Amino acid sequence: MAAPLALTDTADPSFAELLALRPHLTLHAMDGLVMEDVPLARIAAEVGTPVWVYSAGALRRRARALKAALTDAGLTATIHFAMKCNDNLSVLRVLAAEGLGADVVSEGELRISRAAGIPASGIVFSGVGKTADEIRHALAEDIFQINAESVEEIEVISAIASAMGRTARVAIRVNPDVDAKTHAKITTGKSENKFGVAIGDAMEIYARMATMPGIEPIGIATHIGSQITAGMSAYRAAYARLAEMVKALRLQGLPVQRVDCGGGLGIPYRDEPAPSPEALAGAIRATLGELGLPVMMEPGRWIAGPAGVLLASVVLQKQGAAHRFVVVDAAMNDLVRPAMYEAWHGIVPVSGARAVAPLSPAEVVGPVCESGDTFARGRLLPMLETGDAVAFLDAGAYGAVMSSTYNARPLAAEVLVDGARFAVVRQRQTHDALLHGQHVPAWLGT
Ligand code: LLP
Repeated sequence: MAAPLALTDTADPSFAELLALRPHLTLHAMDGLVMEDVPLARIAAEVGTPVWVYSAGALRRRARALKAALTDAGLTATIHFAMKCNDNLSVLRVLAAEGLGADVVSEGELRISRAAGIPASGIVFSGVGKTADEIRHALAEDIFQINAESVEEIEVISAIASAMGRTARVAIRVNPDVDAKTHAKITTGKSENKFGVAIGDAMEIYARMATMPGIEPIGIATHIGSQITAGMSAYRAAYARLAEMVKALRLQGLPVQRVDCGGGLGIPYRDEPAPSPEALAGAIRATLGELGLPVMMEPGRWIAGPAGVLLASVVLQKQGAAHRFVVVDAAMNDLVRPAMYEAWHGIVPVSGARAVAPLSPAEVVGPVCESGDTFARGRLLPMLETGDAVAFLDAGAYGAVMSSTYNARPLAAEVLVDGARFAVVRQRQTHDALLHGQHVPAWLGT
């Protein structure tokens, strides 16, 4: 009898399987990898690499799918894009036109969201360490809601709002102590995490908040982690706790106007079974629906992740003692997720001919002087030559925003594709810009 085929669950998905799940990307014999109607080879040639490329169509489609899932579940919901995952002005503009607000975590994000045309009435400010200046700025802008993460912070907000003659609409971020079963660095809803107030203290803090000047308590919020793929059970557990809290607050005569359900919905980077927006909407409906309150969502990755790629060019292929190394011109300073979270990103050749050539394992690495600057190990890729472009998939979230200039590498350009059009929406940083703002004191001489 023939031995069973040695297929294991560690076999990576093929290029075709990866692209089948990402309808804005298609592979053509002549044009190679195409985003919407634009061959990525054209962008690589005209703009250079490394370059981030976002699909406006995918952003719109995903925003609409999420909205539809919430509406179809019978929920009154607003979506506040967690712009920490992608703060590109044009990306935000696309999402603002879809009616999305923003979840911001700094004055910088607040300013960018306003510059993108997101109304203050669509902005919620989260974060465990808002400074007094940031709170002042948020109140001056009269944003929709501040999610407070501690009683200490609420006291500061109260003092600042009173001094400004304003009333801050404040929701308490509750730490529900559930395990979202995601990477330890991005889990946020366990009691040992720094986020939110302990569920056991939240009632008392809410009641206290109602007595503080300058504060209007308007609701409760939670966010249990990011890249959640382990089904809905953690979400359900967290939301059920929030529902109990809302009921208890109502019994005390304390009004609750809305519940912020956070973000975290995971995406399949490789072939993980990822939950759908419909599943999340269903979980919200099942746990919070009977309260009859409007809900808020703060998704980032689910909307923007699959909509973007990072294009890089092969600098050279080198044969090491143990491996074939494909050295590309993008590095950990551009896309840090593999180095930081051992994240898996699909890597697809941009040339149609390369994409059907025989495959062999390769280590895909960047030029930065650290072994951690490795995008993939043992990845099945065709033989590649200097100048060949490759696309790192699902780089639309936590990609460009997490870049640095480590090794004095300028920040890469960003491009938006919309149908057959494309535009550079953030220019590549110049080498001169790396020197901007630096000043050598006179005593060091010239
Ligand atoms: N709301 C709050 C309060 C958050 O802290 C986050 C993400 C979100 C919403 C959006 O979560 P999402 O829907 O994008 O999962 N750099 C990491 C992810 C960090 C997530 C931080 N907080 C990564 O590359 O995987």
